[in-house]
Amino acid sequence: MRIRQITLADLDGFYNLFAAVCAEGLYTHRQLPPAKERIRESLIEVQTQGWPNHVIEHEGQIIGSGEVFPASVCGEPGRDDTVGVLGMLIHKAFRNQGLGTCLLRTLIDSSQAAGFAALELDVYTSNRRAIHLYEVHGFEWRHDLSRHLLPNRQEDQLQRMRLELGLHSLSAKTL
Ligand SMILES: CC(C)(COP(=O)(O)OP(=O)(O)OC[C@H]1O[C@@H](n2cnc3c(N)ncnc32)[C@H](O)[C@@H]1OP(=O)(O)O)[C@@H](O)C(=O)NCCC(=O)NCCS
Repeated sequence: MRIRQITLADLDGFYNLFAAVCAEGLYTHRQLPPAKERIRESLIEVQTQGWPNHVIEHEGQIIGSGEVFPASVCGEPGRDDTVGVLGMLIHKAFRNQGLGTCLLRTLIDSSQAAGFAALELDVYTSNRRAIHLYEVHGFEWRHDLSRHLLPNRQEDQLQRMRLELGLHSLSAKTL
């Protein structure tokens, strides 16, 4: 099991992980990942820019991924690019074993190293496990976003959470 930066060779593994989580119908409004060609273009940009995009590899399979993109790249062109937008996926068979915790710590460290001032993410209110994980690492609720009908037919509230990386590093030093 190892956490490393994603490469173009991970395209299929990453896509399959993303598709498996979409198929659960619980954590994203997406029923499918973006088209593979779109992901391929994004991976090339990630390599060029050095944005923190990590995968967890286990016995040749991609079983987890975590991405940080500058905010303006994430569909909201006016957003401040000192903010990194974070997303994480762990394959269902590997959840609740501490992998998300390891991945999140790695992402926070690499985001600080990459110069981001803060991290933000959008998470559904029903996703208690993810919210717990983010709160433990210092993320705080910022505001509610829109409500969505998830593929499992449940309506859910999306909320934005934020971690100030400067404050995070200060608190880490005082521990
Ligand atoms: C969210 C996710 C990335 C977390 O990864 P993980 O490997 O399962 O997380 P970990 O095992 O490191 O930690 C899980 C924590 O949540 C806690 N937890 C588990 N179920 C919980 C629940 N229903 N309510 C509250 N906390 C819960 C665990 O006790 C653990 O906390 P602890 O370390 O303080 O005991 C992963 O579960 C996942 O990919 N879920 C589906 C996709 C998703 O939700 N992505 C995030 C969208 S913003």
